[in-house]
Amino acid sequence: MSLPVILTRDLTRVYQSRKGFFFQDAVRTEALRGVNLEVSSGEVYGLLGPNGAGKTTLTKILATLLLPTSGTARVLGLDVSTESRAIRSRIGLVLGGERGLYNRVSGRENLRYFADLYGVPVARRARRIDEVLELVGMTSAADRRVEEYSRGMKQRIHLARGLLHEPELLFLDEPTIGLDPKSAREIRKLIRTLASQGVTIFLTTHYMFEAEELCHRISVLTRGRIVAEDTVDGLRRLVGGDRTIEVEGYGFDEKELSLLRALPGVSRIVEEDFGPRERLTLRVRTPETTEGDIRASLPLQRDLRIRERTTTLEDIYLDLVEEEAT
Ligand SMILES: Nc1ncnc2c1ncn2[C@@H]1O[C@H](COP(=O)(O)OP(=O)(O)O)[C@@H](O)[C@H]1O
Ligand SMILES: [Mg+2]
Repeated sequence: MSLPVILTRDLTRVYQSRKGFFFQDAVRTEALRGVNLEVSSGEVYGLLGPNGAGKTTLTKILATLLLPTSGTARVLGLDVSTESRAIRSRIGLVLGGERGLYNRVSGRENLRYFADLYGVPVARRARRIDEVLELVGMTSAADRRVEEYSRGMKQRIHLARGLLHEPELLFLDEPTIGLDPKSAREIRKLIRTLASQGVTIFLTTHYMFEAEELCHRISVLTRGRIVAEDTVDGLRRLVGGDRTIEVEGYGFDEKELSLLRALPGVSRIVEEDFGPRERLTLRVRTPETTEGDIRASLPLQRDLRIRERTTTLEDIYLDLVEEEAT
């Protein structure tokens, strides 16, 4: 096998900041707590996690915008702490909800400016700009001013910018955040096109479906730690039986919960309140436990609503994220 494109060992990052005005407390945030991961060439690798998990911190370290506190990270075989210049010329980075385009000039003029910044040879510049505009579907709007663009169009120009210098590896930090569903879908389509052209992609998202649609392998980051890493199918196998049963009623007590836990194959119960009602989500591995068994365990409940569905990757993700939080 070829050298991994990204390799981290026990990577940590601590932020020190101050809180309060009169009494300044030093606040220490461990944004990354020992991250080990490996990404191969040509892979679309998804880093999935809720807000505050550390996704942006990890992306910025790998893209050499931020130094690790301890541990090591190698990108394209180079060390992020000591060889950042060499890394930067070979990677692209697009942060979600990014600003930083010049609104008063056209998309094409913006790209010309960034091409010079990235050292794209002048002889090649015009042609490369045409290529990336075509790739992101912005050829016809290229000469309009950026201020007339929708958010989705701006994000496409950001992607085009990230591709100008033909990076081997592209970092996309929540590339669809803040976009309407149609534009987000267009961006995902674009990411698939790039992947099919052999660009290695490191993508962060807090949407399971996005990772599922785009990524070969996914890792789940919560509070600075990777709690699972696998292919989409591998993650699916994590839950075994695959049945999810939702039970809704007016509040459940401990006795009722323990009766439900004792039913065959019930591996997990998540409780959730909404108004006077409470929903229990049961992960069930065996076919034996039926709706009737559940009703029989809850004889005092009135207006019970029971619904069975297939366990989704979103469920598994929420399980993983919640397990870590409790
Ligand atoms: N510049 C900073 N100073 C202090 N704390 C920070 C800073 N940037 C991020 N954090 C904290 O580090 C944690 C991880 O943040 P971040 O990497 O942005 O997560 P994500 O991108 O997954 O939402 C959060 O608790 C966040 O509040
Ligand atoms: Mg982030």
